[in-house]
Amino acid sequence: MIVYKTNEEVELIRISATLISSALAEIAKVLKPGMTTMELDKLAAEYIADHGAIPSFLNYEGYPHHICTSVNDVVVHGMPNDKPLRDGDIVTVDIGVIKNEFHGDHAYTFILGDAPQEVIDLVRVTKECLYEGINHAVADSYLSNISSAIQRHAENNGYGVVREYVGHGLGRSMHEHPQVPNFGRRNEGILMKENLVLAIEPMINLGTKEIKVSKDGWIIRTADGKPSVHFEHDVCIKPGHALILSNYALIEIVEKANINLNSTYY
Ligand code: MF3
Ligand code: CO
Repeated sequence: MIVYKTNEEVELIRISATLISSALAEIAKVLKPGMTTMELDKLAAEYIADHGAIPSFLNYEGYPHHICTSVNDVVVHGMPNDKPLRDGDIVTVDIGVIKNEFHGDHAYTFILGDAPQEVIDLVRVTKECLYEGINHAVADSYLSNISSAIQRHAENNGYGVVREYVGHGLGRSMHEHPQVPNFGRRNEGILMKENLVLAIEPMINLGTKEIKVSKDGWIIRTADGKPSVHFEHDVCIKPGHALILSNYALIEIVEKANINLNSTYY
């Protein structure tokens, strides 16, 4: 069953989504080589509690942390640990919260210091894939047009599109119907109507699309050990346009400021 939201409910989801955006911007401010992902978990946990929200990942199907931190070849569901991050690493920080009974679920991939150009390009193109998909998140369009737009942009750049994990509806539950695959053919399946809220989340690999799963079943890695990138926005379907409820603006401002601070031209 697909649950369409009222405008008031959409605004409550926006509150949860932008709370995550602000937490990600706080992480952007402090993230640097030498930090551990466990420190990011602690920072996010405090931020979420201080803002009157509940961390939805904690205890979800037994998940033992507040956030997911997926480094380099980890596609999704990386667990925070005490290993220092290194110059050139990429880390996807994925955060879920509940506030006013509505979920936000939103992620960003950060680059630490100087990464190889092919990794920088993968990060840029995966973010572009997210927006290519969002361009099709409009009323009276097929949901599969989101999927196919993401797949086309990724594969045009020679990347592998992960099949096993997908985006989803979002509301009173973190995972609602429908699923939002990052691959598919145009004009098939579900026709979207106004006030459907979706978490759109491309997971794109530099190499093969194939993945492997850790023994405990949580940590998803690329089969070939090459890097993978994941971005996730929460989006409401509107006539003629998509309403993006989460927000990368502040994160990107902090990122640019950090690049300038570290630039050899200063
Ligand atoms: N953001 C993930 C998703 O959309 C959820 C993380 S899994 C959890 O499916 F166990 F950490 F919650
Ligand atoms: Co999600």
